[in-house]
Amino acid sequence: MKKIAICTGGGDCPGLNAVIRAVVKAAKGGYGWQVYGIIESINGLLSSPPKYRELSMQDVTHILTQGGTILSTSNRGSPFSDDEQGLANMARCKDNFRNLGLDALIIVGGEGSQYMASVLLKAGLPVIGVPKTIDRDLPGTEETVGFHTAVEIAADAAVRLQTTAESHDRIMILEVMGRHTGHIALHAGLSGAANIILIPEIPFEYPEIIRKIEERKALGRFFSLIVVAEGAQEKGGDQIYRLASDGRKLLGGISAQISERLFADTSIETRVTVLGHTQRGGTPSPYDRNIATLFGCHAVELIERGEFGRLVRMQAGKTSDVSYEVAERGSFSPLPLDSDYIRSAEAIGTCLGRKLAFRASA
Ligand code: F6P
Repeated sequence: MKKIAICTGGGDCPGLNAVIRAVVKAAKGGYGWQVYGIIESINGLLSSPPKYRELSMQDVTHILTQGGTILSTSNRGSPFSDDEQGLANMARCKDNFRNLGLDALIIVGGEGSQYMASVLLKAGLPVIGVPKTIDRDLPGTEETVGFHTAVEIAADAAVRLQTTAESHDRIMILEVMGRHTGHIALHAGLSGAANIILIPEIPFEYPEIIRKIEERKALGRFFSLIVVAEGAQEKGGDQIYRLASDGRKLLGGISAQISERLFADTSIETRVTVLGHTQRGGTPSPYDRNIATLFGCHAVELIERGEFGRLVRMQAGKTSDVSYEVAERGSFSPLPLDSDYIRSAEAIGTCLGRKLAFRASA
């Protein structure tokens, strides 16, 4: 009988509990293995004593639709630096892993957590990764747990802002998450009928935004909706962020800057909504619940086959896995500039903050 552990790392997102449930049901229910939940990300495994609890079938009843994570999480930097402290953390982690009698560790996380997982792997621990992040920017996979729910929440906000914008002939700005990439902004903006969508992959130009607003006015549409990713920036400008206590960049504030600039340049008045962490909370969408279940089951199958050091992924609509080499520190998968989403957005006249590149008449 195997004994495996699972932890959730990095920022939370809807669908983490669905992964935990799938792992417990497939491993314990299917194979009769013991499953331990490590508390508060990898930190639980380097604490002395380790922080964990055994997960029973009862523990995962009714958590499929529950937001957050029953195991808690943390998104502070990697504890495995090259200094004395980092090496001591690694030693404790390995000791705890051995003393608990574990055969494998499943790490559900985004870029930071998968990087940590790759460090543990190099140190000899049998690790399997499950990708999650609302930003959907992890290389090597077409899907990450949490993304589709975040898009639904952001698209719903966009649709709501449209009606109040129209009632008041107003320009609304909706700021959504997306530190390095515009997946959420583009998906939510396109499905929420935004007129202007600004993403980190395409640095924007104010004259193009103003041109779009004026063009709509000339057609008698005195309202417009701008959806902007928190990581978007003006061409030649910088991202807007503040530093967290651990030195991480906390993005946010680009919508306020756009609002001020539009007013200063053209007297266009706007209202700003920053959606923030609502995108990470609450019930996962059915699609995310299913991805979480497929990913959790695949992770258990990999352990059964003794294949470690693999990151579970979705590729061409099928669950598979890939080597940890994709999980390099600081590598993200941006929206391809020739993606169907970008092409279609511009084909229907949506302004992406630049001269339309894919408009038939442009
Ligand atoms: O990476 C996921 C994410 O939700 C980003 O979109 C956002 O910038 C960041 O996490 C926020 O992190 P925190 O939990 O520290 O506020």
